[in-house]
Amino acid sequence: MYHIRNITKDVVWIGASDRRLALFENLFPIPRGVSYNSYLIMDEKTVLMDTVDNGVAGQFFENLEHALSGRALDYLVVSHMEPDHCAMIGDIVRRYPDVKIVGNAKTFTMIGQFFGTDCSDRAVVVKEGDTLSFGAHTLHFVMAPMVHWPEVMAAYDETDKILFSADGFGTFGALNGGIFADEVDFDRDWLDDARRYYTNIVGKYGASVQTLLKKAAGLDIAVICPLHGPVWRENLGYILEKYQKWSTYEAEEKAVVILYASVYGNTASVADALAGRLAENGVKKIAVYDVSNTHVSELISEIFRASHLVLAAATYNAGIYPAMENLLSDMKALAVQNKTVALIENGSWASTAAKQMKEKLSELKNMTILDTQVSVKSAMLEGQEEALLALTDAIMETL
Ligand code: FEO
Repeated sequence: MYHIRNITKDVVWIGASDRRLALFENLFPIPRGVSYNSYLIMDEKTVLMDTVDNGVAGQFFENLEHALSGRALDYLVVSHMEPDHCAMIGDIVRRYPDVKIVGNAKTFTMIGQFFGTDCSDRAVVVKEGDTLSFGAHTLHFVMAPMVHWPEVMAAYDETDKILFSADGFGTFGALNGGIFADEVDFDRDWLDDARRYYTNIVGKYGASVQTLLKKAAGLDIAVICPLHGPVWRENLGYILEKYQKWSTYEAEEKAVVILYASVYGNTASVADALAGRLAENGVKKIAVYDVSNTHVSELISEIFRASHLVLAAATYNAGIYPAMENLLSDMKALAVQNKTVALIENGSWASTAAKQMKEKLSELKNMTILDTQVSVKSAMLEGQEEALLALTDAIMETL
């Protein structure tokens, strides 16, 4: 059954949601599924804004055919060549043999790489600032390199004031009927997944996102249509403010996130004791995670959110416990910055975890590592809590 929604009179959402896929990019758990958004502009010409992932091809073509109402497809605009959006290009060309494909020079290089043809007979190559008119609607192309991939471009519909933002402003999560952010409780039900999507997929490219946000500030935008998740037509300031913070690596809130890597529970016990002491001191926003038990994408998202981190790790093979080492590598890969960090180490004979965590953190920008740290020998026993109280005080002084 077709499932389409009008964004404006002429612009129709024709995307689809996947609730079967376990791992997005074969990497990120998506228990709430994911949507692949595609949009159709019905004008003197018909214009498809991106295709979808293979996994939802059937639903997508049903939607497209219904929305076209028997008309042919004249144009396909390719904003991004990652296969979750470009997988259906070949099928589109087979079904609509006269379709023209709009992209930038890098788009067509990638079309060649993925499909073995550069589509030169049907290519319409655009660059920054170019416009294409399809009747009442004119699209203005805005290059957004590295707002996930190098060929990414956004498009601004000058008529309906819509920004087609590619992966920008996207989120994990299947759409459940409501396709607009104002039809759902975004802050309660979507923000965590939006942050996890942004920080893990685009997090490394904050400077590129800043460039796009500055270009967007010069446009009169009424609607943001991303390639994943809800469409924004109200309260755009809410999501723009989140993007401003995430892309400048500014914490969303004063909060303490305690991340522990514990072999038998003794390091975990110290982490919990610290959380309790902080709560006694009036800290309300505290989150504690077992890094062995929580997907690293969730940890990265929480690290972006919070101002303060506590890393507590056992020493293992004379190094950092592997789950924590993996987290530190991901923090570096995703350009985590601007955090205050406290360290706790544990070791039954030769503790080296704190020293090594410090070395890893020194590779990140603008990290303040507290001098006060806790070194546990096997377990923190009653009567040994002095170091924990000192660390609590040191964290409180910075909050
Ligand atoms: Fe949704 Fe970068 O692909």
